[in-house]
Amino acid sequence: MSRKNLNIGLYGFGCVGFGLYEVLQKTPGLKANIRNICVKDKNKPREIGIENFTFDQNDILNDDDINVVVELIDDADAAFEIVSAALKKGKAVVSANKKMIAEHFTELLELQEKYNVPLLYEAAACASMPIIRNLEEYYDNDLLESIEGIVNGSTNYILTKTFAENLSYDDALKQAQDKGFAESNPILDTGGFDAKYKLLILLAHSFGYVAKPSDIFNIGIDGIGTLELKYAREKGLKIKLIAQAFKAADGKLSAFVIPKFVSPEERLYSVDDVFNGVLTKTSFADTQFFVGKGAGAHPTASAVLSDISALSYNYRYEYKKIKQKEDLILSDDVTLNVLLRHKKEDAETFKKKFITIEEAYTNNEAGYITGTLTLQSLKDIQSGNNGDRSFILQNIVTAKETAIAESVLTA
Ligand SMILES: NC(=O)c1ccc[n+]([C@@H]2O[C@H](COP(=O)([O-])OP(=O)(O)OC[C@H]3O[C@@H](n4cnc5c(N)ncnc54)[C@H](OP(=O)(O)O)[C@@H]3O)[C@@H](O)[C@H]2O)c1
Repeated sequence: MSRKNLNIGLYGFGCVGFGLYEVLQKTPGLKANIRNICVKDKNKPREIGIENFTFDQNDILNDDDINVVVELIDDADAAFEIVSAALKKGKAVVSANKKMIAEHFTELLELQEKYNVPLLYEAAACASMPIIRNLEEYYDNDLLESIEGIVNGSTNYILTKTFAENLSYDDALKQAQDKGFAESNPILDTGGFDAKYKLLILLAHSFGYVAKPSDIFNIGIDGIGTLELKYAREKGLKIKLIAQAFKAADGKLSAFVIPKFVSPEERLYSVDDVFNGVLTKTSFADTQFFVGKGAGAHPTASAVLSDISALSYNYRYEYKKIKQKEDLILSDDVTLNVLLRHKKEDAETFKKKFITIEEAYTNNEAGYITGTLTLQSLKDIQSGNNGDRSFILQNIVTAKETAIAESVLTA
């Protein structure tokens, strides 16, 4: 198969944009050259000559010789404007912007269809780890039951540093920012929003379910306190920010992002620093485990490069699972075993929300409860959170275990 020549218009020359520039210099086999680069700040010093840049986004959009737009900017609203304009002009697009893709998934699907042009975004979920194309292409007949993973490199870096090196949360965040792992707006990472956007993209490619960001519940790592860290250390566990989605036999889908205690027997325990790891469970292959760097200039640029290369062979996502139109509904009908840290005064109110309680402890100021509750009850407690409570997931309780617990309670 002959490969297409690609003339690239690049938006953004920050961590990933410059990373891509460097990576392209080292891959001469790919017939892809950067024709123009659009950035924002006219006064910023650049690694290459100013003659390579424009500050007018239309210079790329109106250049008929440019057939591929690579969007690597840190502003999701401006990114959507650029990407939708490029697709309307018939230009193929590569993007790493998970927030933009998650917020506009349906519109972007329609634009690809209407203007018959591809949009690829492997770097938007788990950076260097080729998870989207695997979910899209490989898992089709062997039906997926669940995906679970660490999908945000900067929070994993922060948790690793606070846990292993006793670094303060602020120092670990600063390190992640200095190394180019963190989003320009840190709450996107630490609040679990970035992980939620990625989970939304993975849901579409794994189960064919297109969610809105507000449909998926997320708790980040910003509320984790010393009590939870101490609890984890004493029990030989780590805390990881886990995004997960699973399908029940009745077609109900659950999807959420919540920090979780992970034991040394679990594969995700050893996924540290900026690495991401995703576990898939399917009907026949059973469990499979993907691991790779989830942030950083060259690892992220490698996924962008792979998408550019795929475009040269006319690759596009077929969105097979979305087109199969399976009747799935996103449900809160799931029972979770958690640790809840709370203010002393809230102990009795919160206990009533639990189905079962394993342990409850209160001192003069605060307390914790471990036990089971529904996702809906967890959301209710979390909705009034002023920084005085936090949840760490221990495990998901199966439907059978929930039924046994309920029958014991009603006996
Ligand atoms: N960093 C990572 O490890 C990583 C991993 C996976 C995905 N991503 C995604 O990759 C994208 C880029 O991230 P980054 O870390 O490279 O960001 P960054 O280092 O902050 O760079 C952002 C770049 O975007 C440019 N820009 C912002 N608004 C613009 C506009 N309206 N028009 C033209 N250029 C504009 C900036 O221009 P100036 O240079 O003039 O300021 C800068 O060059 C984001 O969507 C991010 O979520 C990043």
